[in-house]
Amino acid sequence: MMKSENKSLRLFYALWPDDATRAALMDVQAPLAGRKTRYENLHMTLAFLGQQPADLLPALTAILAKLPRQSIPLTIDRIGYFTQKKIAWAGMHETSPALTDLNRHLLEALAQNKVAFSSASEFRPHVTLARDADAPEELPFQPFAWTCRHVALVESSNRVDGVHYQVLASHFLTQG
Ligand code: 2AM
Repeated sequence: MMKSENKSLRLFYALWPDDATRAALMDVQAPLAGRKTRYENLHMTLAFLGQQPADLLPALTAILAKLPRQSIPLTIDRIGYFTQKKIAWAGMHETSPALTDLNRHLLEALAQNKVAFSSASEFRPHVTLARDADAPEELPFQPFAWTCRHVALVESSNRVDGVHYQVLASHFLTQG
C-alpha cells in the first residue's frame, strides 16, 4: 500500500469563475456538441502541475497567497477550437495584460520553489466548454465581461461520474 507521505495529487491553478460568469459560459456552451464541461467544473487554467506530492501543498498554497491582488478584467468574446484535442473553448481575442502578468508571476514563483512540472511553451488561456467536440459553427455570440477575483489551487480526480475538481486553496483579488 502507498505510504501516506508519498501520496500524490493531480493539481492545477485556475481562474475560478463566479456564478454569473458560469451562467454566461453555459449559454455559450448550450449549442455545442460534445462532452460538455459541467457548470461547477468551468474554469480557466493558469498552470497545470500534474501529479505532485501532497507534502508540497503548503508551499503551493503560499505561492498562491503571494500572487498579485489585481483583479483580472476579461472580455469573453471568442469561441475557439483545438483541432488535435477536439476541445471547444471560450476565450478572448485579446488577452488582458493583468492575466499575462499573473501567469508570469505564478510561473516565476513555481520555478523559484523548484516545483517540477512540464509547462506548455505558450500560455493559451481558455475555458474548455466541450471535449470530443466538433468544430463549433459560426454562431452569433454576445461578448460578456468577466472580472475575475478568485484564483484557486485545484485538485482534479477521476470519479465514476466524471472528473471532479476540488478547490484546495483560494486567493481573492481585491484591487482594481
Ligand atoms: P484543457 O481543459 O484544455 O484540457 C485540468 O485538467 C485543467 O488543466 C484543464 O483545464 C486542462 O486543460 C488543463 N491542462 C493543461 N495541460 C494539461 C495536461 N497536460 N493534462 C491535463 N490537463 C491539462
